[in-house]
Amino acid sequence: MSSNDPRDRRAQPWWQRAVIYQIYPRSFADSNGDGVGDLAGITAHLDYIAWLGVDAIWLSPFFRSPMADFGYDVSDYTDVDPLFGSLADFDQLLEAAHARGIKVIIDWVPNHTSDRHPWFAQSRAERTNARRDWYVWRDPRPGGGLPNNWQSSFQAVGPAWTLDAPSGQYYLHSFMAEQPELNWENPEVEAAMQDVVRFWLDRGVDGFRIDVVYKLAKDPALGDNELARRHDQDWPTIHDRLRRLRALVDTYEDRVLVGEVYLYDLERVVAYINSGDQLHLAHNFVFVHLPWEAQTVRGSVEQFQQLATAAAWPTWFLENHDHPRVASRYADSPEQGRRRARVAAMLVCAMRGTAFVFQGQELGLPDADVPGERVVDVDGRDPERAPIPWQPPSAAGPGAGFTTGAPWLPLVADAETLAAEVQQEDEASTLAFVRRLIALRASAPALTAGTQRSLDAAPDIFCFSRELEDQRLLVALNFSSNPVPLRLEAELGSHAVLELSTHATRTQLELDPRELVLEGDEGVILRYTG
Ligand code: NOJ
Repeated sequence: MSSNDPRDRRAQPWWQRAVIYQIYPRSFADSNGDGVGDLAGITAHLDYIAWLGVDAIWLSPFFRSPMADFGYDVSDYTDVDPLFGSLADFDQLLEAAHARGIKVIIDWVPNHTSDRHPWFAQSRAERTNARRDWYVWRDPRPGGGLPNNWQSSFQAVGPAWTLDAPSGQYYLHSFMAEQPELNWENPEVEAAMQDVVRFWLDRGVDGFRIDVVYKLAKDPALGDNELARRHDQDWPTIHDRLRRLRALVDTYEDRVLVGEVYLYDLERVVAYINSGDQLHLAHNFVFVHLPWEAQTVRGSVEQFQQLATAAAWPTWFLENHDHPRVASRYADSPEQGRRRARVAAMLVCAMRGTAFVFQGQELGLPDADVPGERVVDVDGRDPERAPIPWQPPSAAGPGAGFTTGAPWLPLVADAETLAAEVQQEDEASTLAFVRRLIALRASAPALTAGTQRSLDAAPDIFCFSRELEDQRLLVALNFSSNPVPLRLEAELGSHAVLELSTHATRTQLELDPRELVLEGDEGVILRYTG
């Protein structure tokens, strides 16, 4: 095998082959009984993560924070919040993950700090403070009123400006008032945030997920948002800022930058990855918001393929801590949700690109029911943040192995049967399926490095080939809940072996793909043998 052979694992960076597992630390595993997950809890479950077969974990924020936005409001970027543990706990987690061959990506939240960050305290103290300009301050409009028409991304918050009465000026916040926006027009801010990146790279992390990266550049004149153009995000200056960040990260070996590019226009999204010197990966939120329709999904995937340059690498995900779970949002019933969760996992892991899986997605978790009095998030995201049920409540008590105390959010209704321990013992479970899927991806070069081409099969089927040299795979996903016969082009071949089905009941291994009838909500991966 020559070194430029794509089958040579060294030829492809780890983050392109990877399945990356997102951990929301508050809800993963609680080691000390306070009802909130912590770093030691994650370390204690690294064997599970290794067993699942993922290549890397992405940790949502664990830094010092007043927790107004559950960690996305950072008051000290270089320390661990006591709720989650200590820097020593982080070092231990990093070392234990690396010992198992698992890379660690952490969340970098550079767009805003907490209002309790010392920088903001100084900035707010008086107009003449040296840090005043580290945040975005503006006078009221002549005659009074908000500086412009910008709105918070959280509907419940309303305008993106809060008046600071003592100084008579407004400060900007794209999220909660407790998350004041840093002023990235000020080079000192960029330098300070780059220092944060250096701190964690020196500590050994393998990369960063960049929170709201598209907001790091705004119209410096703070012009009103217009119907045809937003001025509060995705300003052209973003690209040089990212180039400078990438240059810094590239002085370290093999690290990755994945950005939350929450834009609804794929042309804008690829601008963050197409030049090869900005982000390595961009989360694609167009994809997350598609309806569960085969041809719509196919069209969007093809559009991405057309827009992406050879320097760009795709990223696929359908769940994170900000969106309803797949098993709930694509389904009318829990049963349909469980089936579609598997099809969705197959979609994400079988396409060409890096795959992200959110904790609990491998269990097919639905959203939890969160009664009014338990709601804690300002933006309705509690249901997808329900703690992981590790063990059935009948055996482990109401904390389901997540905590021995009172969980900070209610668990999912069906924790008894969905618990990880229960599913680990059941070969037909969603967990067992996802584990096989990840193993197949890792062992099939066509899935990690091969080409991807859409094929016509039937209106409700998204079907595509993955090919690398003599390895030819066919992926067929039924987006409907009815059986659908595949109608494939004759020249594709007539002999195939079933590598994997989302339905544990499909047992015939050798088949003719042209005669295959997919069951409702079934996905398969076949390998052509002739
Ligand atoms: C995106 C994060 O994923 C979300 O959880 C957070 O509320 C906002 N950014 C603000 O940091």
